[in-house]
Amino acid sequence: MSRHYLMCRPTYFDVVYEINPWMHANVPVDHDLVMSQWETLRATYEDLGFRVDVIEGAPGLPDMVYAANGATVVDGRALGASFHYPQRRAEAALYNDWLRAHGFEVTEAVAVNEGEGDFLTVGPRILAGSGFRSDTASHAELAALTGREVVGLELVDPSYYHLDTALTVLGDDDIAYLPQAFSEASRAILAELYPRAIHVSPQDAAVFGLNAVSDGHRVVVASQATGFIEQLRAAGYEPVPVDLSELLKGGGGIKCCTLELRPAPSR
Ligand code: ARG
Repeated sequence: MSRHYLMCRPTYFDVVYEINPWMHANVPVDHDLVMSQWETLRATYEDLGFRVDVIEGAPGLPDMVYAANGATVVDGRALGASFHYPQRRAEAALYNDWLRAHGFEVTEAVAVNEGEGDFLTVGPRILAGSGFRSDTASHAELAALTGREVVGLELVDPSYYHLDTALTVLGDDDIAYLPQAFSEASRAILAELYPRAIHVSPQDAAVFGLNAVSDGHRVVVASQATGFIEQLRAAGYEPVPVDLSELLKGGGGIKCCTLELRPAPSR
């Protein structure tokens, strides 16, 4: 199915502060490599027939490349982001401005939420992470705005601080995840809702294999996640491996760099 994505050009990407365990401010970033890996991801989406819009980055906002955190767009309506860490707070207005300028109705957030980092749409339902970034109060805000069922899930491993680092949406009723990243109660919810889900190994999760983007059949996934790629094939999906390793220095991968713009339902 065709998709519409927003990506942020990594002109100002860098690691100059540390707000997740993957970030080390003393490790240099290869800026040319970042740009070429990002361009490859964008070209991959376009080759798959997806529409990609680009928002420019801004100086002083090195994490803005992680567009998934910029908002949550469902049925043509957006809930703006409200970042947990002060270093990223100024990104929210830039994403809101872009969305408004492109015809989306934007509701400003009240509670802290980091966009699609923690809000994953699976068919009619939305899975919502908490524990490290998004506040559980934001789950109710999104439910009120979208009228959809929002299921809260608690993350417990600081390395998997956003839901999209621990869980991939594969189809309307199909997900993959790292069970260890969730509290026991949340694991039980996932087992009940998605009995056929793929459980991914810690090795594949650690290369951000779960930070993947699927159109329901083709799955753009970290090329280093070799075990997960095999699991996807065995389940009938078509893996499309992409290397975004330099972006992992900021603690993000393929899905982090991709905000889905879901249109209003056609009537
Ligand atoms: N450095 C960023 C942060 O810690 C990475 C965000 C990754 N984005 C994501 N959707 N998981 O906020």
